[in-house]
Formats: sequence, C-alpha cells, structure tokens
Amino acid sequence: MSGDHDTSIQLPPECEPALLERFLKAEAMALWTVRSAQQQDVPPNVYVFLRKHEEDEQQHLAQFEAMIGRQPRERARLPSVPRQWPVLAVQIFGYESLGLEFARLLLTLRPDLASILEDEVVHVAFFEREIRRILGSGVAEQARQSAVAWLRKLPTTVNRYLAAAVFDPFRPALAERILVVIERRFTETGLLQK
Ligand SMILES: [Fe+2]
Ligand SMILES: [Fe+2]
Repeated sequence: MSGDHDTSIQLPPECEPALLERFLKAEAMALWTVRSAQQQDVPPNVYVFLRKHEEDEQQHLAQFEAMIGRQPRERARLPSVPRQWPVLAVQIFGYESLGLEFARLLLTLRPDLASILEDEVVHVAFFEREIRRILGSGVAEQARQSAVAWLRKLPTTVNRYLAAAVFDPFRPALAERILVVIERRFTETGLLQK
C-alpha cells in the first residue's frame, strides 16, 4: 500500500535506548499473543502461519534481549486473546501494523536491524489477506466493529509506548503519524468505511 514507502520521522541517537526497551516489551507481547492465538480455534492456514510467526517473534525477542542484556518480565500465563477469529484477526493485524511502524522508526536509528522490518512486513501482509477474506464472508460486520473499537484505544496505546521522557519533543508528531498510517491501512483493507 502507499503508506509502506513513507519515510519515518528521524529520531536522534539519544532515543535509541528507550526505543530498544520498548521493543523488548513489544516483542515479548507479540510472542505471547501469537502463542495464545495458536490455542484458539483459527483456520488451518492461519495455524500454519502462526507457527512460523512464533519463530520470528522468538528470534526478534532474542535479538533485543542480547542488545539490552536482560529478559523481559516473565508472565505466569499467556495473555488472553479474543476467542472469535474475526475479532482476534483484527487485533493481531492492528498490533502487527503498530509493530511495523515502530520497526520503521527503529530502522532510522539502527539500519542493521532491517531484517526485523522485513519480517513485520510479512506478518502484516499475511493478516491483511486474512482480513480481506473475513470481509468477504458472513462475519464482516463483527470484524468492522472490532476494528472501530481497537482504533478507538490506539491513541492511548501509542502514547503509552512513547511514554519515556526522551520522546517528549517527538511524541505529538510521532503519535499523529502512526495513527494516520494505521487508520489508512484499516481503510484500504476495507475495515473502515471511507
Ligand atoms: Fe516482531
Ligand atoms: Fe510481528
């Protein structure tokens, strides 16, 4: 889609440690979500993809653990994810889209981490196809409603992700850009009516 080639906002080098910290948490959450999703009733092709997806997120997490020198806080159990596939698909599509925008941001500071961005592009593309499939089925309305609900919470999520003080001067522009890109992605997929 058109947004894929937008240039990201350039952050100064002092933002790098805070951004890596953010990734440590986000990659752990992505991994746990993908694990949790495999325990749900998902279509067979999705299940196959989630196995590979889990490996990718596991590898991303290991990279950030190695860079930061510690592991994220362990969880006693996997996060709960929506049981209904259309709702779960929207949630994963949304968070992977958010991860993709952060990976773009990371690339401006760490061009050596380009492979993470490449993986996130694959993850988003897969779920985008699944969303289109859902929108052509009888559960389209359920997916559209959960997309609206998920987007409503997105500004709070993005501001929490950018909570570190070092992001203060950039937060409004960054948050605005991320929201615009994700909303456009949702619209182009057909989740939001134009
Ligand atoms: Fe990832
Ligand atoms: Fe991902």
